[in-house]
Parts: sequence; structure tokens; C-alpha cells
Amino acid sequence: MTEPDIKKGLAGVVVDYTAVSKVNPETNSLLYRGYPVQELAATQPFEAVAYLLWHGELPTDVQLAQLRATERAYRHLPADVRAAIDLVPIDAHPMDEVRTAVSLIGARDLAGTGSVLEVSGSVDENLARSIRLFAVLPAIVAYGQRRRRGQQPVAPRDDLDYAANFLWMTFDEQADDVVVDAFNRSMILYAEHSFNASTFTARVVTSTLSDLYSAVVAAIGALKGPLHGGANEAVLHIFDEIGTAENVGPWLDQALAEKRKIMGFGHRVYKKGDSRVPTMKTALDTLVEHYGRRDVAALYETLESEFVSRKGIYPNLDYPSGPAYNLMGFDTLTFTPLFVAARVTGWTAHIMEQLASNALIRPLSEYNGPDERHIEGYVADA
Ligand code: CMC
Repeated sequence: MTEPDIKKGLAGVVVDYTAVSKVNPETNSLLYRGYPVQELAATQPFEAVAYLLWHGELPTDVQLAQLRATERAYRHLPADVRAAIDLVPIDAHPMDEVRTAVSLIGARDLAGTGSVLEVSGSVDENLARSIRLFAVLPAIVAYGQRRRRGQQPVAPRDDLDYAANFLWMTFDEQADDVVVDAFNRSMILYAEHSFNASTFTARVVTSTLSDLYSAVVAAIGALKGPLHGGANEAVLHIFDEIGTAENVGPWLDQALAEKRKIMGFGHRVYKKGDSRVPTMKTALDTLVEHYGRRDVAALYETLESEFVSRKGIYPNLDYPSGPAYNLMGFDTLTFTPLFVAARVTGWTAHIMEQLASNALIRPLSEYNGPDERHIEGYVADA
């Protein structure tokens, strides 16, 4: 019998076409609908990139204004969603809050739909659902952090765009432009990355003709893991463990002796460096300067150079974004929910793409369990 050619973790397997983004590990590049991500991060507000991912083109001024008006209309925290978040134990991981909130929003939106045959929705319905989730997630994430600090939610401000309003709702003060800019860039860099684990999860759920909210809830579950989105939180745990740049050498000796994974390094696709890191590192540098925290840059750079020289494994996006979010004032536990708020744009673009040319995703497996056996005393019905 010939052994099947199993690709563990689907490594290297091309499972479908996508027009949403292109990752090229050879040239270290990432294109969203054809545009290099670093050009988008340097020139566009996150709302325009969301529009690009959904529609395939950057918005005109009128289209951007329309999207912003809808986003403003849905950016407040609904009372029932707040009540649902309050039911989640205060010491549960905030990704559980976000997952619960999206689940409730989906149940509310789809109430009365009736048959499962109706839930996958039309293109227009799914676009509207995508915009509403994109609009409300900042309020959910911001409230999560405030709740853990014993603070009340902060009402959104109509005079602020997405990134500035997100920071406002989290911190109850207007952020400096340099912070808003770094935050906006991080949202754009996190927005989309082809068939990563959470996006593929969303596409698998969508392929059964389930609804967009179920696909996003499943994607949030996949993103929570430390090998995927949870890595940005894990980077800060490592920074806290190491303390200062002087401790990097001995800390790394021990971590490698214990065969620990160093969070924020390595990538399934990029082997020569993550295309998004230089842009996010530049944003981190502006924050280091702004807050006068050269110690953070020293720790970052020392760990990076030591680990790369010892293992030849490069940082991924979570490595600069973790300390950047920390400098902005986000709690470590809030980092992965921030990733959700950004990646919901990519997930929903992929959900709509999957529906547009759907095939049920149902791979095969090779059985390696016990040979056929039988229940003692069982007699088959005549
Ligand atoms: N620290 C130490 N060793 C590593 C690391 C790391 N961060 N990454 C890879 N390696 C080693 C690994 O131990 C293995 O060594 P060996 O061949 O001796 O057993 C080799 O490199 C190949 O690693 P792998 O885990 O089999 O490779 P992969 O392509 O499955 O891994 C990865 C990709 C992201 C799961 C892995 O690099 C990792 O666990 N990194 C740390 C977690 C992390 O930062 N995740 C964020 C990924 S990017 C952002 C996102 O998608 O959310």
C-alpha cells in the first residue's frame, strides 16, 4: 500500500485562489488587492483599507465619507452587548469577551431568519454585516480593557475618525497625532494576510453556508492561540520576564536550553523576514521617541539581534506590535482583541469571496487507529 502524501499543518498546500491579498515570501512583500501594505499604511486611514479589502478598490472621497458615516452610526456599545460582556468572568481572557459579544450580535441580527437555508446571506447583507462588526468592535475591545480597570465605558466621539475614536473610547482622552498614526498603521498591517489559520477557519465555516457571524466567532477562536494572534500578548510576557537589555543573553541561553518557542519570531510562510515588520518597527520607533522609552528599543533590538544570530529565525509582526501597544497604554491582555478589530476586515472579505465561488471545504484523512474490532457478545439484528 502506498503511503499518502500528508502535508502536516497543510504546510505548502495551495487550497484555493484569492484576490484579497498576495504574500510573496521570496520578495518579502504583501499586497492588499495589489497595493503594497507599507504604501497603504503610510498613506491611508484604516477605513479606506477596509473598503479596499471589501470592494477591491480604494474608495473615492464620497465612498469614504459614506463608509465613515455608517461606521459612526454603529460605533457605540449596545446595551445588550455590554450586559453580555459583563456576564463574562472578569478574569476570563478578553478574547472570550470579544467572541461572546460577536456571537450575541450575530444571534440578534439573524433572529427571525428561520431556516438555516437563509443564513448565509446576500452580498449586500454580508457587506452590511461586515461594516457593522468593523464599527462596533472598537467599542467592545475598549470596554473590555476599561472593565478590567474598574472603569465605565466611554461614549464615541463623532468628530474623530476610526483610529482616534478607538483610542478615545479606550483611554477617555484624545491621543496625540503620532500615537493615532502608529495605531492606524498597526490596524492596517494586521488587517489581512491571505490563508492564515483564522482566515482559513472563517472560510471553512462559510463553506458550509453558515452565517458570517459564526465564521467570525470561529476565526476569533483560532486567532486566540499563541501560535497565531496570541503571540502579540506573549511577546510582552517575554519582555516582562527579561526586564532589561542586559538580561537578554542569559535569558536566551536558558530559554533555548529549555527548547522554548520565542514568541514574536518565526513564520510559516516568511522564512527571511516578515514583510510587515519594518513598517511596524518604524511606528514603534516613533512611539519610543514620543514617550522617551529608549529602554524598550534597547530590549527589542538586543533580543532581535541575539535570536536572529543564534537561530536565523526572524521577527514577525507581533514582535514590534506588542511593545508598541504597550507604549500606547493598552493592557497586555488587550493586544489580541486589537488584532480582532483589525483582522475582521480581512476575515469578512474572505467570507464574501468564499461565498462568491463556494465549494464545501472537506479534506480527507488517513486512518491510523486500531484495526476493525467488535463488541463482545454483540449479535447483529437478523
Ligand atoms: N522560537 C524558537 N524556535 C522556533 C521558533 C521560535 N519562535 N519558530 C520556529 N522555531 C523552530 C522550531 O522549534 C523548529 O525547530 P526544529 O526543526 O529544530 O524542531 C523550526 O524552527 C521550525 O518551526 P515550526 O514551528 O515547525 O515551523 P512552523 O512553520 O510550523 O512555525 C510558527 C511557524 C509561527 C508556528 C513558529 O515560528 C512559532 O511558533 N513562532 C512563535 C509564535 C509566534 O510568534 N506566532 C505568530 C506568527 S505570525 C503572526 C500571526 O499569524 O498571528
